[in-house]
Amino acid sequence: MNIIVASTPGEASEYVAKRILNIIDATPAPVLGLATGGTPKGVYQMLRDERAKEGRDFSHLTTFNLDEYVGLDPAHAQSYRYYMNTHLFDHINIPSPQIHFLDGRASDLARECLTYDKAIENAGGIDFQLLGIGHNGHIGFNEPSGTLQFKTHVTTLDEATIEANARFFDASSQVPSQAITMGVEPIMHAEEIVLMAFGEDKADIVDALLNTPTLDPQLPASILRLHRNVTIILDKAAANVYQNRQSEEGIQ
Ligand code: PGA
Repeated sequence: MNIIVASTPGEASEYVAKRILNIIDATPAPVLGLATGGTPKGVYQMLRDERAKEGRDFSHLTTFNLDEYVGLDPAHAQSYRYYMNTHLFDHINIPSPQIHFLDGRASDLARECLTYDKAIENAGGIDFQLLGIGHNGHIGFNEPSGTLQFKTHVTTLDEATIEANARFFDASSQVPSQAITMGVEPIMHAEEIVLMAFGEDKADIVDALLNTPTLDPQLPASILRLHRNVTIILDKAAANVYQNRQSEEGIQ
């Protein structure tokens, strides 16, 4: 795992946006795996700016988003589809057939999951996967549990996830209790993975991730330790507990 500690979330976001732009320039038909949440907003802003100010072309890109709430309409302000439209897709020129999203309102969710995995496979897999990390160690909505699921699946959200995401809703009772999420297989098959974490509140889970000696399904992000090309990009606050531990261990 490569670990980069940036001074600020802005500096970290710039690093990630530049990496994405390099891939877009260097690859004829890049496939990006995208994440939602507070963390990647700065990256999306920078990609939007590239389009608005530099006229950057995104038309050769294909994207797959990680997850979606079950039951929310794509037009719902808290759906991840709405988030992506607002923060990125409405402002850049990816043709809509190349934007892939899980449909949380599908009548047959199991089929929806299978179709999504097939679409990722048909696209040749993901070149670059962007991830955040939950306070409970989830990636996408692969929540802590006794097992990790390989394929795209329906999942019941952890209490901690509902609590964390309640900030986007009027009340935690309005956060859907289920979601569909890419499983760990398409994520782990990505050529390159970048996990971003910012802020003091992520410092403990980052430390746990970087110190876990085993693959622990209770800390789903720990599977990333098995991938050959993962970069963890942190701001100083998120790196704090890990760095303190490193320096204490260095002194002993
Ligand atoms: P956040 O979410 O970026 O809003 O902290 C990350 C996640 O839950 O994966």
